Amino acid sequence: MKIKLLVLLTVTFSLNVSFTKDKMVVPLVIEELRVEYHENPEGIDIEKPRFSWVLTGEGRNRYQSAYRIIVASSIAELEKNHGNIWDSGKTNSNNTNQIEYGGGALISNTSYYWKVKVWDEVAQESQWSEAARWSMGLLRFSQWKGLFIGHDVGYNQTDKYDSLYLPPARYLRKSFKTSKKVKRATAHTTALGLYELRLNGKKVGDSYLLPGWTDYNKRLHYQTFDITDQIQQGENVVGAIIADGWYAGYVGYALLVRLDKVREFYGVNPSFMGQIHLEYEDGTSEIIASDRSWKANQGPTREADILMGETYDARLENSGWDSAGYDDSTWKDPKVYTYPNGRLQAHPGTLIKNTELLKPVAITEPQPGTFVFDLGKNIAGIASLEVQGPKGTKVQLRFGEILKGDGNIQTENLRLARATDTYILKGEGVETWQPKFTYHGFQYVEVTGYPGKPNLNAITGLVLSSIETDASTFSSSNAMNNTLFENIKTTQSANFIEVPTDCPQRDERLGWTGDAQTYMRSATYNADVAAFMTKFLVDLDDAQRWYGAYPNFAPFPYSRPNQYSPAWMDAGVIIPYNMYKVYNDTRILDYMYAGMQKFMQFQADASTDYLRPGGGNNWGDWLSVNEKTSNDFVGASFYGYDAKLMAEMAKALHKTEDFEKYGSLFKNIKKAFTEKYILANGRTTEDTQTSYALALYFDLYPVDLAQKGADRLAEKIRANGNKFTTGFLGTKHVMLALSKYGHNDLAYTLFKQTEYPSWGYSVVNGSTSIWERWNSYTKDDTANSDLNAKMNSFSHYAFGSVAEWMFQHAIGIDTEDAGYRNIIVKPAISKQMNDIKGSYKSINGTIVSAWNWKGNKIMMHIEIPVNTKAKVYIPTTKITDIKEGNRDISKIQDIKILESNGGETILEVGSGKYSISSKITF
Ligand code: BGC
Repeated sequence: MKIKLLVLLTVTFSLNVSFTKDKMVVPLVIEELRVEYHENPEGIDIEKPRFSWVLTGEGRNRYQSAYRIIVASSIAELEKNHGNIWDSGKTNSNNTNQIEYGGGALISNTSYYWKVKVWDEVAQESQWSEAARWSMGLLRFSQWKGLFIGHDVGYNQTDKYDSLYLPPARYLRKSFKTSKKVKRATAHTTALGLYELRLNGKKVGDSYLLPGWTDYNKRLHYQTFDITDQIQQGENVVGAIIADGWYAGYVGYALLVRLDKVREFYGVNPSFMGQIHLEYEDGTSEIIASDRSWKANQGPTREADILMGETYDARLENSGWDSAGYDDSTWKDPKVYTYPNGRLQAHPGTLIKNTELLKPVAITEPQPGTFVFDLGKNIAGIASLEVQGPKGTKVQLRFGEILKGDGNIQTENLRLARATDTYILKGEGVETWQPKFTYHGFQYVEVTGYPGKPNLNAITGLVLSSIETDASTFSSSNAMNNTLFENIKTTQSANFIEVPTDCPQRDERLGWTGDAQTYMRSATYNADVAAFMTKFLVDLDDAQRWYGAYPNFAPFPYSRPNQYSPAWMDAGVIIPYNMYKVYNDTRILDYMYAGMQKFMQFQADASTDYLRPGGGNNWGDWLSVNEKTSNDFVGASFYGYDAKLMAEMAKALHKTEDFEKYGSLFKNIKKAFTEKYILANGRTTEDTQTSYALALYFDLYPVDLAQKGADRLAEKIRANGNKFTTGFLGTKHVMLALSKYGHNDLAYTLFKQTEYPSWGYSVVNGSTSIWERWNSYTKDDTANSDLNAKMNSFSHYAFGSVAEWMFQHAIGIDTEDAGYRNIIVKPAISKQMNDIKGSYKSINGTIVSAWNWKGNKIMMHIEIPVNTKAKVYIPTTKITDIKEGNRDISKIQDIKILESNGGETILEVGSGKYSISSKITF
């Protein structure tokens, strides 16, 4: 007994706990420190970076009452708890994110170290968090010392439509000496085109396809690398391999539709620019910048195009070219190119990484010498090749998403994306190779020319993506839906590559705005896309048409007028709104605001009596089946939705007049919309599933008719055999509208449906990804003959936007305010599902919601993060039936009963874990 007490006391003291009444309270723990949404970012150029963290803590109703951030110039200062750069002081606030740095001007090329401590609900101080850091990029143009350099490889384009022009990559090198001890070395680098930075024989960093894609006439992103550990005493060699990329290579469908330009949308020759900052122990420093003293050459990379693929002739390797001791006397002087007009800016998004390695699950040989490797799922990325054989052997890799009946890969749906990589052996032992400047959308790799019979090690799949889909979990008693969830994540990963693309395989891969807006909220559930989407919104803002419309895709490299469409252009309002809603980000609203206003004006000008007609490209409810909703209806409904969101965003920005203005615009649109499209019996004039879904979800229905509209929608779905008629726009809104108006059972029926058209149809037909079309493929149609093979992607996330419904309704996790501080837990409990569980890692921490049936009893498990509150909806008004643990809910002090009527009881809970059960009678 004595010993036990001693142990308890020791623990108590070392944990620094405090006692309130009879409760022991353990201090809060601080995790996931982020600057501008990044973990320890290198080279940001935001003058007032924003901090965030996530809190965890034992017990219930825990919250932060104050915080203190300190920023120091060195780890040593930070360890002394000395914020010599900034000390926020104890700040009474429960904010844990979007907290602006409040110190003096931050200095270019400088590292900063920070940590935070918090006080909890009983004013108990936490430990300091772990130390975190960030560094600044180059904030002034005058600090850039480099020239844009490249290598002239000649130009021999003959017929732009009938033959591909694929120039070689260029190699640049510079040898330099460090005679003094280096304290810190940093590289700030970019390229017009793509680059891989090399230092002393190794790639710098672990990202792909740098510097990324922007409208290079407006901005060019650069990267910052800490290279201290890669610098050596004596001779060092910095190298850059550069290739066409989005800057000079083939982009999108230009070749297919024979635009005037098919490549070189921003420039003809790729070039590299950058500098290395060497800071010596003795306090002196030096800059090695790209200039005329560098050397240039060609090398083994003979072709390098994002869409078309790469050709590498290992016989031409200049072995040791990027290391010390290499003789570059045969190399040429570099060619100096003009500086671009676009501003140089640090990449604000997340860079493309290899997020997963895939070993093939099978090899087949559909005809002698043609080997097909199955990687098990449909990804975006590259394949690494391992091969041994005679010098000059040419191994060719082609990529496909599905197989034809004869076992060969289907490439028709790649259209004019050649998607072919070729490796020519040098004939020296085991050779491994992977391309650097291309990527493909594929599950299957076809290998020809392989010397002998390859084994499973010959090919490894490298999944490439700008995001990690690790923010959510979902599982249910219906296995098909669990596979669907995996497929959604796979396809999001495959398409969140620098911009949210429509698809990774064919000659498109554009940042299609309609797809992005429809999927935006789903995207946020599966991954932290805050930085990725911030970058895309800059692209979208840059691409806004001069007359106010947002374009069909961004960046927008083509010179074509009228490239807009209702529901595509609305991405310019819907995506920023979701950034605010999900991440509590008002800075991005500020950034986008002028453009959004201009867009609203463009719509106002195009409208008659508040009805915005269709217009532009009018894609409508793209890829709907058997029902067409008019373009005018789509145009008018999205205009209404925009007005509603604009009012909310104006409010968030404290723009009172605009809040009023857009609020009354919404009312006017709604009135005009109701008069034109909603009949007295609650039907829409269109009477299509999509028309009900959009009008109901966008709040364009008069209150007294909304339920009738929703019932008609349900009736129509039932009459259609519990199946959709909807396309990209209607589908997710059908699900959301059904649940909003009490038709959860039907929503689950659709969710579980396996007959065409449905999600289940793709799953039972073996999909590992989300298809562009409801009927992209069937097992019986392996030749895929009569489908439009040319417009048939197997990796298109638009229909995956059901994830929004899965999280908001099936699991039931949503936010009432911005940024999940006031959480809604309202699972769509239905006898159609036996159990569902899932979690979502919000900006305020992980929210868990699970439910299952035990006879007629519903068992709910809920976890609410520290510093947040949740309204929990229980589908019964019999309060006496509701238990937490095994106690009556009304007897539990921690839980407030807010309301109990209309078939449900709403509880208010603070942070903590709750096991709630209740008898339910539907
Ligand atoms: C793309 C889309 C896009 C559509 C516009 C397609 O080619 O793949 O997903 O939204 O065009 O209609």
